[in-house]
Amino acid sequence: MQPIAPLMIEHRLIERMVKLMRLDMERIRANILVDPGFAFVDPVFIDVAVDFLRTYADRCHHGKEEDILFAELAKKELPPDLKKILDDLTAEHKLAREYTKELVSAKENYLREEPEAVNKILFYVDKLTAMYPKHIATEDQHFFIPCMEYFTPEEKDTMLARMWEFDRRIIHEKYEGTVSAIENRRACGLGRK
Ligand SMILES: [Fe+2]
Ligand SMILES: [Fe+2]
Repeated sequence: MQPIAPLMIEHRLIERMVKLMRLDMERIRANILVDPGFAFVDPVFIDVAVDFLRTYADRCHHGKEEDILFAELAKKELPPDLKKILDDLTAEHKLAREYTKELVSAKENYLREEPEAVNKILFYVDKLTAMYPKHIATEDQHFFIPCMEYFTPEEKDTMLARMWEFDRRIIHEKYEGTVSAIENRRACGLGRK
């Protein structure tokens, strides 16, 4: 198996979540058309989508791209066109993190019933769901396959093994982080004892 195979499989799941987010955005817009004061945002869906974007799309998927594939590519003499795509893809990962952070902030504003919160939610869901399909298409159709020519079969096997190991650690990292965050909140006196 090529090291790009798990990344391409992960793209299919990211596309499915992006589609769900897009549908939710269209549902909110349709509600607003019927009654501008009645947006019906589902904060639980936003929390689930944000957890997916942060844990799966960013930490697990972008993590393997940046820490393994992109890092190994950076050691190669890439032609300017591939180098440019590599830089653009890395910049888009950063942008996705920013958009996700803004979406969380918009959802918190919505829960505080602040004006413009719904528009901000729609704005960042639109940004995220417009960016991901293009980003994925660039990787699948113009980047991953030509990049594989720069690696020997042994290098590809090593990257794939590192990716499996990377995945294996994610679940432990995620829930260690969950427990630590609760402990820290309680130590600061912000949570219930
Ligand atoms: Fe990517
Ligand atoms: Fe990707």
